Amino acid sequence: METLNRIFNEDMLAGIARVPDSSVDCIVADPPYALGKDYGNGSDKLKPKDYLAWSKAWIDAVIPKLKDTGSLFVFLTWQHSPEIFSYMKTRLTMINEIIWDRRVPSMGGSTRKFSSVHDNIGFFVKSKKYYFDLDAVRIPYDPETKKARTRSIFVGKKWLEVGYNPKDVWSVTRLHAEDHEREMFPTQKPLEIVERIIKVSCPENGVVLDPFMGSGTTAVACVRLRRSYIGFEVNPDYCRMIEERLKKASDLPLFAIEIVGASPCHCETIPPQAEGEAISSEPVRLPRRSSTKNSSQ
Ligand SMILES: C[S@@+](CC[C@H](N)C(=O)[O-])C[C@H]1O[C@@H](n2cnc3c(N)ncnc32)[C@H](O)[C@@H]1O
Repeated sequence: METLNRIFNEDMLAGIARVPDSSVDCIVADPPYALGKDYGNGSDKLKPKDYLAWSKAWIDAVIPKLKDTGSLFVFLTWQHSPEIFSYMKTRLTMINEIIWDRRVPSMGGSTRKFSSVHDNIGFFVKSKKYYFDLDAVRIPYDPETKKARTRSIFVGKKWLEVGYNPKDVWSVTRLHAEDHEREMFPTQKPLEIVERIIKVSCPENGVVLDPFMGSGTTAVACVRLRRSYIGFEVNPDYCRMIEERLKKASDLPLFAIEIVGASPCHCETIPPQAEGEAISSEPVRLPRRSSTKNSSQ
């Protein structure tokens, strides 16, 4: 069955065999954190020991899907990132730990420890040949800085023209309730973060796998950036949310996408399986948009 540009409404461990081995440029994984968040299921409520075992299981399941040039970015929190990063280092090469500073404003709350305002994003690769397009994510220098660097030693410096490396601390404001991007979803990631990951690690027309789609940020980013996505999400309500987000993303002229072949909504509902039953090869489809959207710049 065709997997590209589809979200499968099923447990990723049950469905990952659908994804061909060595076919994915980049994995963006934002799994539950074992912090008791409510995703309409018990997935964020595992005990630490079970969470570590489950984390190892999904990591082992997705690694074979990566191309040799592929990378895996995983969002974690400080509570469990040390153990999970340690395990991942036995399977892959760690390139960076990126700190996402969520820019949470000062407020009351913690009085016996410092307030935690960051996520730990692990950046891992399969081999030294990994794809990394730094120029796609450089941050332009502001005019004042450029002006201040007019001394002859700076003239003609490529980095001054093309901008600087974003470094490994990313200060990007979390999505407030009023943010135009915001969905009714507890831990939605900003497009700015996910798009930077995709631009740097997946070539245009490449393939991104997100085993835990949530509100569908990765799928929306892929549509905007002309990459293909493959996703899994167990909660059917979130799959519907993703469909709506994808419709909106493709309708906005700003996003200027051209969808070749199929419509942008590809949520597949997989009927729950009885234990030991094989994965159904003909999933029930949710109603689809009737027309393919083509928009121009
Ligand atoms: C942290 S959220 C992902 C948020 C997402 N990155 C976004 O920006 O909206 C984790 C998601 O994984 C889903 N999930 C949990 N266990 C899963 C599993 N075994 N297979 C597929 N999805 C799962 C949850 O329902 C939840 O929506």
